[in-house]
Amino acid sequence: MRLGLYHIQLMRYYEEVMAQAARNYAFTGDKKWEMRYRAVEPISDRLLKNAIANTDETIQPFFTVMDNANVDLIKMEYQSIELVNEGKKDQAIALLDSKEYTGQRRVLAGGLEDFITQIEGDARQRGNLSDVMIPSVQQIIELERKLAVMEDNLKKEKLFAIGELSARLAHDIRNPLSVINTSINILISQKDIDAKTMETYERMQRAVERITYQIDDVLNFVKPRVSSLKNTSLHEILASVLARIDIPKTVVITIPPNNIEFVGDIISLEIVFVNLITNALQAINNSGEIVISASVVKEKIIIKIRDNGPGMSSDIIPKIFEPLFTTKQTGTGLGLTSCKTIIEQHGGHIDVESVVGKGTTFTITIPYRQIM
Ligand SMILES: Nc1ncnc2c1ncn2[C@@H]1O[C@H](COP(=O)(O)OP(=O)(O)O)[C@@H](O)[C@H]1O
Ligand SMILES: [Mg+2]
Repeated sequence: MRLGLYHIQLMRYYEEVMAQAARNYAFTGDKKWEMRYRAVEPISDRLLKNAIANTDETIQPFFTVMDNANVDLIKMEYQSIELVNEGKKDQAIALLDSKEYTGQRRVLAGGLEDFITQIEGDARQRGNLSDVMIPSVQQIIELERKLAVMEDNLKKEKLFAIGELSARLAHDIRNPLSVINTSINILISQKDIDAKTMETYERMQRAVERITYQIDDVLNFVKPRVSSLKNTSLHEILASVLARIDIPKTVVITIPPNNIEFVGDIISLEIVFVNLITNALQAINNSGEIVISASVVKEKIIIKIRDNGPGMSSDIIPKIFEPLFTTKQTGTGLGLTSCKTIIEQHGGHIDVESVVGKGTTFTITIPYRQIM
């Protein structure tokens, strides 16, 4: 009987986890929920079977009802997963909202609840409730830990696969793209072009530029970075960055009046500034103000990049450094991830402050290594 309670306690927990995982998968399509479901389902089934085997005959019919409900639920939950995998999210949600599904859940959850109340009463009378409860808690913790590791691995694998694929793709696109770019420049430099044709060329040029940005984001993200520390300065880095970015006349960009000379990896720091300035330009929609300031405080270089764009709401701020998070139609969501990695490789950190309607400030803090 005691073993029966222990299994049934776990069962109640897993039943929740499974229902939640199936639901989350239907709503988000995030593979981690499908995986979580598939990991828990066989355990939960085994638990119920064990519980049935470990109880005396008088309670067994009671269990059979729950077991039947459980079999039905699992069937519907797997069906909902299949539907999501076939791209039929709406049908999956409808299935999990159906009367049949919610009804069977009530049978199973209600049955478990009743049963626990009943035998917890028995156990309490015998004064050994804690005996019965403790192992189940430990097992839950252990399973949660395993699931967390699995989720983490899945995330890493997914990122690795994305990395491999996009690096190859980006690399292959780059060459033909530069051919197109050169050709457009040749077309534009011809004499006697009418305004309309010129406009078309320029539109092509902007489109190519946009793809180039995206490819650079991807390559900067996946490229293994060999960091080479060299003597450099903030002005040197900014000058080279600003030469690479097209700054419209309607943007006022202020660079720090004071220069800071330090040791750092020039190539990767340039990537950071290109990303932050490009994001700021996109935020202010090519008209507004970008102010870069710098100081050295307590052996640390602090650089701020502020824009007077629309800012970010508090629900998106925690996500912006995550790979693939973007709010832009043609964004990659890789820029800030690259910035964070690079700054951390320099032993520093990057933070953001943003006020909706006022603007955004990114703050880079890196250890100050004086030049030799
Ligand atoms: N200066 C900024 N002002 C407002 N939002 C910003 C700014 N910089 C970044 N963001 C937000 O952070 C998201 C992620 O940025 P990033 O990683 O560079 O990817 P991407 O630029 O491709 O979208 C952007 O889509 C945007 O929502
Ligand atoms: Mg960006």
